[in-house]
Amino acid sequence: MKDTVILALESSCDETACALVRNGNEILSSKVASQIDVHTLYGGVVPEVASRIHIENISIIIKEALEEAKMGVEDVDAIAVTVGPGLIGSLHVGVLAAKTLALAYHKPLVPVQHLTGHIYANAFVDKLQFPLLALVVSGGHTELVLMKEDYDFKVIGTTQDDAVGEAYDKVARVLGLGYPGGPIIDKMAKEGTPRYPLPRIHTDEPLDFSFSGLKSAVMQSIRRLERNGEELNVADMCASFQETALKVLWSRVSLALQQYDVRQLILAGGVAANSRLREITEQEMKKYPDKTCIIPPIKYCTDNAAMIGASGYIAYKKGIFAELDIEANSSLEM
Ligand code: KG4
Ligand code: ZN
Repeated sequence: MKDTVILALESSCDETACALVRNGNEILSSKVASQIDVHTLYGGVVPEVASRIHIENISIIIKEALEEAKMGVEDVDAIAVTVGPGLIGSLHVGVLAAKTLALAYHKPLVPVQHLTGHIYANAFVDKLQFPLLALVVSGGHTELVLMKEDYDFKVIGTTQDDAVGEAYDKVARVLGLGYPGGPIIDKMAKEGTPRYPLPRIHTDEPLDFSFSGLKSAVMQSIRRLERNGEELNVADMCASFQETALKVLWSRVSLALQQYDVRQLILAGGVAANSRLREITEQEMKKYPDKTCIIPPIKYCTDNAAMIGASGYIAYKKGIFAELDIEANSSLEM
């Protein structure tokens, strides 16, 4: 069978990325220009700044990805791009670059929804086995997705307020730990004991999530310590927050695994890089010897373009193409 090479672009948040992916599961090159250093100065992503830096970086990153793969745009079969969801100004930059390449080189344009990219990052590890359950945990989303086959996405649980990654970032900010909070809390929690009691927030729908109350509970707990003149142990608070958040996540996953007869569990999104979530998942999955589990390599958990190439490959095979007048959509659903 003839190989299919996808040139993929991702610019939905604060990473400008380009990758070349062969047959949906082989990375020929993957380049990511992170803006974290800049946004750290502001304690979070500043949308206007993000889109401006994307403009500066996008051509350079495309050139680097092509060079590393030793290919030209003429050698690829299609251009895939993240169309949404994300920051609208940031998305525009990637979409415009992709449209330009598609027009200039007469290549089909494949629109990719960002979260499907996170899901298909797992294809770099192993073949997906359907039906599967995906736990999608990122800075903007917390979703349980049931997939009966490729590109069939059914959201069976979602967050009612903050995403889990957002909760990590906000709690880190309250603790004065910097941005992005996830990796810092992950590291600090290893040195702490989860000794501060925090509530597991109830949701009306048993498979839904809620994290804003947990963030507030952390703040209240800190205030209480201050009032009582007790010293806050930051590492212990990180461990307490993390254990509670991950317990909430896994309680929903366990329930979904009981309710739906799936063959596989996969993790997806930036929070899937969390060492404790990876550990708990491996432990918990021992209870399900009939099911397989994939956890993507850490560098393909956070935003990158290789995952967009993996998802774009499936879309390409399914004949999902966009016209050149397609626009970025900041709230695009799966
Ligand atoms: O998927 P992603 O790169 O971007 C979005 O699509 O949102 O996810 C970013 C989120 C941030 O909230 C970040 O704090 C979180 O993923 N994150 C982590 C870890 N690494 C990144 N959260 C917990 N533990 C980590 N090791
Ligand atoms: Zn993402």
